[in-house]
Amino acid sequence: MKISDSMVSAINDQIKAEYDSAYIYLAMSAYFKDAGLDGMAHWMQKQYREEVEHAEKFINYLYDRGARVIIPDVAKPKDNYTDALEVFKTAYAHEQYVTSRIYALVDLAISEKDYATQSMLKWFVDEQVEEEDNTSGIVSKLEFLGTDKHGLYAVDRELLAR
Ligand code: FEO
Repeated sequence: MKISDSMVSAINDQIKAEYDSAYIYLAMSAYFKDAGLDGMAHWMQKQYREEVEHAEKFINYLYDRGARVIIPDVAKPKDNYTDALEVFKTAYAHEQYVTSRIYALVDLAISEKDYATQSMLKWFVDEQVEEEDNTSGIVSKLEFLGTDKHGLYAVDRELLAR
């Protein structure tokens, strides 16, 4: 069954959202590198690569369905933050936003009885649970530590292991 034009358009929009996400995390990585927090910089760089992989999953899906992929402009990300807590709070809020976008895609796929797209999106629904859990977990740790610099250093070391 042919994929609908509206679904192709919605997935192309999501490809842009994934590249925008990638750039947001790359800018966060650069912020942490500048702040001397190498573990957090490393964690964000890995996140950047994951987002590129997400975009590529959507691109390959459109190829598999014989649809046209539009390579998007990428929005310039925010590149300055107050502290690590603000960065991870922003990342968590961003992942909640991405989840709402994925759910909207699922809603569209259901309304169009597009079972193939629903099946493909299942991976993203599960992935978003992990993405929100990862970022909110780090927010909780940083909130607990407050201004404790030794604690911040310990979390930074921990994130180096990602
Ligand atoms: Fe592509 Fe972080 O969701």
